[in-house]
Amino acid sequence: MVPWGVCMAMAITVAMCLVVTKIFMRRMSRYHDHHQKSTDGSIPPGSLGFPLIGETLDFMAANCSNKGLYDFVHSRRLRYGSCFKTSIFRRTHIFVSSIKSAKGILMSNDEVNFSKRYIRSIAELVGKESLLCASPQEHHRLLRARLSALFTTDAVSLFVERFDHLVLTTLFRWEHTGTVVVLHDALSMTFKAMCKMLMSLEDPEEIEKLQKDVTQVYEAMVAIPLKLPHTRFYKGVKARRRIMETIRKMINQRRKGLEEHEDFMQALLLGEESSSDNASPLTDTQIQDNILTMIIAGQETTASAMTWMVKYLDENQDVQETLRVEQLQLASKVSSGSLLTLEDLNGIPFASKVVRESLRMASVVPWFPRVALKDCEVEGFKIKKGWIVNIDVKSIHLDPTVYHDPNKFCPSRWKVLDPDPSLEKWALFARLRSGCRVSVTRIAPK
Ligand code: HEM
Repeated sequence: MVPWGVCMAMAITVAMCLVVTKIFMRRMSRYHDHHQKSTDGSIPPGSLGFPLIGETLDFMAANCSNKGLYDFVHSRRLRYGSCFKTSIFRRTHIFVSSIKSAKGILMSNDEVNFSKRYIRSIAELVGKESLLCASPQEHHRLLRARLSALFTTDAVSLFVERFDHLVLTTLFRWEHTGTVVVLHDALSMTFKAMCKMLMSLEDPEEIEKLQKDVTQVYEAMVAIPLKLPHTRFYKGVKARRRIMETIRKMINQRRKGLEEHEDFMQALLLGEESSSDNASPLTDTQIQDNILTMIIAGQETTASAMTWMVKYLDENQDVQETLRVEQLQLASKVSSGSLLTLEDLNGIPFASKVVRESLRMASVVPWFPRVALKDCEVEGFKIKKGWIVNIDVKSIHLDPTVYHDPNKFCPSRWKVLDPDPSLEKWALFARLRSGCRVSVTRIAPK
């Protein structure tokens, strides 16, 4: 048995070591920040944290806490103002939350100052050929044009009907269930919808297996990128490999002509054959990476948005009632048992406002990252080439100078989007709000 005195001495030594380490780290952190300031001139306020690790640990701690990942940004915004710097995963990040800067950065997307950029570990999980990682801009644009197959009017129409069918099935089950966890069911619904729309996958067992793997990839996206066994990141990388293998098998079946479906994967494979431009066909890797990307980008976002909407509607019974009246009016116009169509969506403007207001209040994607392609200035501060500039949209969505009474759920704050029905106006855009493609042809005078 270890004598009590020795235990005490050990405890004191450990405590002293911890205190000394903490003081040392804090000094290093201050030196690091001071050094940056003195050499860089007027760079944004904020802390770059400890050498090498920056503020990564705080970022991860926020992710694991009850307050969530955004708390990391929110607390710093309160401390430093609308433009601040930090260092996460060994990159300098700037967060900006003024609407003027946000517009400037987003508008210059096709120009030279900023480009889309997600953290490097994400590329390892969704794949280098993913739309989320494709660079330079030209490559991103080409890939995006190819992937637009998902959003043709026919594809969206089919999707609206299929999704409505899934919602009806889920609501029917809810009628016979005691307690419902909305997020859980929304995730399952959106996952099934994505599997059906992207690759006609309907087998419940295969869907369940795939959903487990996709969840692991999703969790790894915000984990420390350490490829050591049992870490979250490592599990995500392994799950990605299994997903790639499943999608590769499906592509092979279709290439051999053993299977054919009306879905995104088929559209991409057909697009290769019927491509009229000289662009090279999509490779298997590009198709695989982007199917996974669509699942990741579409499932959680849509499920979270639906869940928040249910919460806001429950808290605002008057809004719920107005929405119900509009829905019942629509139901009275269509034959019973028929599914919702794309055109029906045009006849429910209040529902569209409820969606917009829910997206504003919930900010499902709280910030948009961009990389500075050259040294530039944002809000009067110097930004260096290679820094990641994140537009803090959640903060803008709740800014009282932008939205009156921003914490109030008020769908009526949204004006009817397009009171001018003239076709010429719409000719400026490729699609109507409903998703229908518009093409205007001048009729030559006789
Ligand atoms: C309520 C649901 C959704 C929300 C709130 C949402 C939000 C967003 C936002 C804010 C961006 C831009 C991020 C940036 O510029 O950095 C984005 C990009 C993207 N979203 Fe969604 N999204 C939703 C649903 C979907 C769905 C259903 C899909 C696929 C079927 C999808 C696929 C994508 C893709 C591929 C990108 C990247 C586009 C590119 O880089 O060119 N999203 N989404």
